[in-house]
Amino acid sequence: MRDRADTTPGGGMTLVAFMQAQNCSNYAASWRHPEAVNDFLTPQYYQRVARTLEDAKFHLAFFDDRLAMPDIYQKDYQATVRHGIRAVKLDLIPIMTAMGMATTHLGLGGTYSTTYYEPYHVARVFATLDLMIGGRAAWNVVTSLNDSEAFNFGQHEHLPHDARYDRADEFVEVVLGHWKSWDRDALIMDKENRLFADPAKVSRLDYKGKYLQSRGPFTVPQSPQGHPVIIQAGQSGRGKRFAARWGELIFVSYKSLESGRKQYKELKQALSDAGRDPVSVKIVCAIYTVVAPTHEEALQKAAVIDGLSIPVDGLTLLSEIINFDFGSRPYDEPLSDSDMASMGGMQTMRDRVVEQSGKANPSPRDFVECTKRGTMHDFPLFIGTPSEVADGLQEWYDTFGCDGFVVAGTHVPGGYEDFARMVVPELQKRGLFRKEYRGTTLRENLGLELPSAASSRPKAAVAQPAATPATTATAEALP
Ligand SMILES: Cc1cc2nc3c(=O)[nH]c(=O)nc-3n(C[C@H](O)[C@H](O)[C@H](O)COP(=O)(O)O)c2cc1C
Repeated sequence: MRDRADTTPGGGMTLVAFMQAQNCSNYAASWRHPEAVNDFLTPQYYQRVARTLEDAKFHLAFFDDRLAMPDIYQKDYQATVRHGIRAVKLDLIPIMTAMGMATTHLGLGGTYSTTYYEPYHVARVFATLDLMIGGRAAWNVVTSLNDSEAFNFGQHEHLPHDARYDRADEFVEVVLGHWKSWDRDALIMDKENRLFADPAKVSRLDYKGKYLQSRGPFTVPQSPQGHPVIIQAGQSGRGKRFAARWGELIFVSYKSLESGRKQYKELKQALSDAGRDPVSVKIVCAIYTVVAPTHEEALQKAAVIDGLSIPVDGLTLLSEIINFDFGSRPYDEPLSDSDMASMGGMQTMRDRVVEQSGKANPSPRDFVECTKRGTMHDFPLFIGTPSEVADGLQEWYDTFGCDGFVVAGTHVPGGYEDFARMVVPELQKRGLFRKEYRGTTLRENLGLELPSAASSRPKAAVAQPAATPATTATAEALP
């Protein structure tokens, strides 16, 4: 039998809200929903959802990121702006900070790219956020997806897929190295003896890799949870190895329960092979839900939501994620081998289309129909009464399709509020999800151990209290 809320440190099922720092939810058409609010440029928008999620005891609110406006389809951004197809993308650190100020237990996770940022900067930003929100931060490590992101960062094209992961390995080594370079008890703060911290408990990283170099010492002491939780969502062979090496929480996107179960098993095995504990690293699957008191009402609600999308949404988002202009080829003609090979974005999506369509050279139409990008059917969708939706989630959870869910909003805030108000109590009633937070940090609430401190470090001289307050102009006395 599957673990239950009262017997696991993480409290049963892991629940994450999939959020967007922009004008819509994952479902690009959601801003057109009659009940969607449009104050997405204010902190109140994010704080309102944060409070809803915390009241429902969600583990985490998570933001994805993209470092460019979708403009690969027809090599233009006009339609993106006109139709609001994820046209806005705000930086998520200030937003997570604002949400952290409005909550006390909810974890807050955000995506930063290993391809376009510098590791020292990422380490510092997330470590500072983690301190400001009391040990509730998480970093989703991504390698980014398309050329438009490269152009925004002064590069000519996006790095090839596997090279991105090689760089990302070094990137995480640097970030974790810095995060672990202050011992938990390094700070002394002895005013009388003028002893701020013990230099023997702070080390310099001196990292030199093929792609990256970073020296240190790092300037941010540890947070109550040691350091932010690492999230990863690699799905290719190389990506899964990366996820299994570093991920403390792993996001997946499965098309069906059957394929999900198979991939879940493989990923848990990959975690074991990497010497990790496959039980404590939770695998959570992206989904949509539409819930209402009666089945009929839920179907009606879903029809309204479905009716919001327009064809250009899908083509725009498909081109963006696969890094290929689907507008540059006839809609019903097979794409060439070289077109297929040039798709350098999310290759697992390309490969799924080949598998699902049964064609080595699918047409743009095949891509649109198989991926259902731009609709709320691009993730598994659960529609029904609270009990029907809970039945579906329970089946995935009980039969080891996943350890929990990344719940995407069909619209904001309604998508999250419906789930919190109707589905969560049903999951709690069934003993599948905890009723209270287990601790205050995200690690405690996910049932993760505190990370180990740096294993080996060149020891600096042990700190000595100053014998007397310095009166001469030695280096120690200078401001
Ligand atoms: C739930 C979820 C969220 C993701 N969020 C982002 C994101 O914010 N930015 C991004 O560039 N990629 C994101 N990805 C893509 C993954 O990082 C990864 O690139 C993708 O799953 C394909 O795997 P691969 O890189 O091994 O080919 C996400 C994937 C999933 C399943």
